[in-house]
Amino acid sequence: MSVNTIEHNRKRFNFEGIDAIWLFGYGSLIYKVDFPFLEKRPASIRGWVRRFWQASHDHRGTPEAPGRVVTLIEQPGAVCKGMAYRVSPHVFEYLDVREKNGYLRFSTTMTFDDGSHAEGLVYIATEDNEAFLGEASEADIARQIASATGPSGPNSEYLLRLAESLRALGDDCAHTFTIESHLRSVDNADR
Ligand code: SIN
Repeated sequence: MSVNTIEHNRKRFNFEGIDAIWLFGYGSLIYKVDFPFLEKRPASIRGWVRRFWQASHDHRGTPEAPGRVVTLIEQPGAVCKGMAYRVSPHVFEYLDVREKNGYLRFSTTMTFDDGSHAEGLVYIATEDNEAFLGEASEADIARQIASATGPSGPNSEYLLRLAESLRALGDDCAHTFTIESHLRSVDNADR
């Protein structure tokens, strides 16, 4: 599958007759909210874990020196916390461009903090996209993040803002926090 998913996503879901739909965000969509929304609620999805296994050539890196950003990987029983937004379908005209580097929209069931559920969409960069990097040690991921920067800013800012947002949401994402602590050691070693 080509790395640019804009056209794939446009064909993927028929929004006809729908005024609003829930979107679950687990990465930059938690803290970089540059789109209009009708409602916002902390939520979680089951059966997925957050992993820095996707390359960023367009936001937090370049084609020559890609950064690393998060995608979701299936893991039975896991719970991934994030932020849900109720949005007008028009918002996907923008978000499909923002998330174009390998992410496809999938349907998901999300659970809100009061235990209620809603169906909605989530962007996932699956293993078959060209920008999928896959597993690496958390120390190596931190080193790659420390040296990458792109049009949206340093890759380290993506990681640190995500870690801060996950703490605020009460998510104990060991993967993100371990990479964050490696990044801080890389920074200290460079000083
Ligand atoms: C998301 O935040 O839900 C998708 C991945 C990202 O944009 O960082």
